[in-house]
Amino acid sequence: MNISVIGTGYVGLVTGTCLAELGMNVLCMDSNPQKVHLLQQHIIPIYEPELDVLVKKNHEAARLQFTDDMKKCVEHGEVLFIAVNTPTGADGTSDLHNVFQAAEEIAEHMQQYRVIVTKSTVPVGTGQQIKQKLQHALEARNRQVAFDVVSNPEFLREGCAVRDFMQPERIVIGVEGERAQECMTAVYLQQSRQGIPILWSNLETAEMIKYASNTYLAVKISFINEIAHICELCSADVRMVAHAMGMDRRIGPDFLRPGPGFGGSCLPKDTRAFISIGKSLGYTPQIAQATLQVNESQPQRMVSKILHTLQAPADKVISVLGLAFKAGTDDIRDTPALPILQQLLTQGAVIRTYDPQAMENMKQLLSSPRITYCPDAYSACNGSDCILIVTEWPEFAALDFTVLRRQVRTPVCIDLRNILNPEDVQQAGFSYEGLGVIG
Ligand code: UGA
Repeated sequence: MNISVIGTGYVGLVTGTCLAELGMNVLCMDSNPQKVHLLQQHIIPIYEPELDVLVKKNHEAARLQFTDDMKKCVEHGEVLFIAVNTPTGADGTSDLHNVFQAAEEIAEHMQQYRVIVTKSTVPVGTGQQIKQKLQHALEARNRQVAFDVVSNPEFLREGCAVRDFMQPERIVIGVEGERAQECMTAVYLQQSRQGIPILWSNLETAEMIKYASNTYLAVKISFINEIAHICELCSADVRMVAHAMGMDRRIGPDFLRPGPGFGGSCLPKDTRAFISIGKSLGYTPQIAQATLQVNESQPQRMVSKILHTLQAPADKVISVLGLAFKAGTDDIRDTPALPILQQLLTQGAVIRTYDPQAMENMKQLLSSPRITYCPDAYSACNGSDCILIVTEWPEFAALDFTVLRRQVRTPVCIDLRNILNPEDVQQAGFSYEGLGVIG
């Protein structure tokens, strides 16, 4: 089956590559010719485990091609996935300009039946709007071409996007009409044969499932961050609290890890968009609002914790380990590391930092004579007055604190992800502070 994917960002590139891996004949389109040129040489602009290998493999097998030509893209794919980005406007609403422009260009080149699928996260009602825009664009050109619009939201996580695409817990497809349903059944045939559940719904329900899922994940994180904070005030241990809560199947163990706040390109943006969707429909979602408020104050709370431990931070060396918004990615969009670094710099601290993947991205955003980007975690800890774990990279959990004890100036460790074993750190001679952990 011929598939086209419009947009080669995170979602688009993973979708196109994985569909090629599933045996489809895929053409990925990006309006940036330079990006297309690099992709043709298997150079991918993001760090995502397994993706580069699959791009190379499927491109060499001629199942995966790249182009900057929209006409070719529309001619090629019977099913056209729209996976362009949808930035957030200042008021929290999603900017759908890229999505509608893609729809407009599809209409310009569409000569025969096509299924237009939104993979981008779009507000409830967007599928219907795309349908109208396509209809108007075709009428304006005096052409009659049959098409269907489908919503097929993506639930992949950065850092394990390939696995999430290949082995999802469910595939959600919002569809109107049998012809489109048949096409989408063919796209996901292999996965449905493996027993992966496919949920069919109308367009609006599929769109809502995506927002409800991401907002709920955000709620869980802000909730456990509040619990961690209260644990600190009453000598309870959040690790045991979360563990015991998670054993209740009605709650589940995932997304109950306290941290410096949720970041990335999805959870903060989608929670904001969900609030603005509710408002536009006449209801302000209060739980989502509180979730965002807790999250927005979380970096400040982390800084207060650091300042409380360090007392006077001016000229103290803080070793910030981790810059990415989470482990397994080079992505620093909405990373809590940024406000934490900025506030520490404002307080006069000297920063030595290291991240296995996100250094280049952060260097472009933040430079100061008082910040040194170091080649590894150990060198970031040279002369340190405080080792601060911000991202939960496994290599930080494996640090040898006996070695670090000889390098640091003051043996203080603050673990904002609770990834270290407090006893090991303390035995090496450090004071240890986690989040909601009894010291
Ligand atoms: C999220 C969702 O998990 C995916 O299902 C969804 O497809 C994706 O958004 C999207 O909409 O495209 P992602 O942004 O890659 O995926 O990151 P997550 O793994 O969800 O983590 C988000 C943030 O929450 C990170 O900053 C992470 O450190 C934080 N987090 C996560 C916690 O602080 N505690 C936890 O227990 C879990």
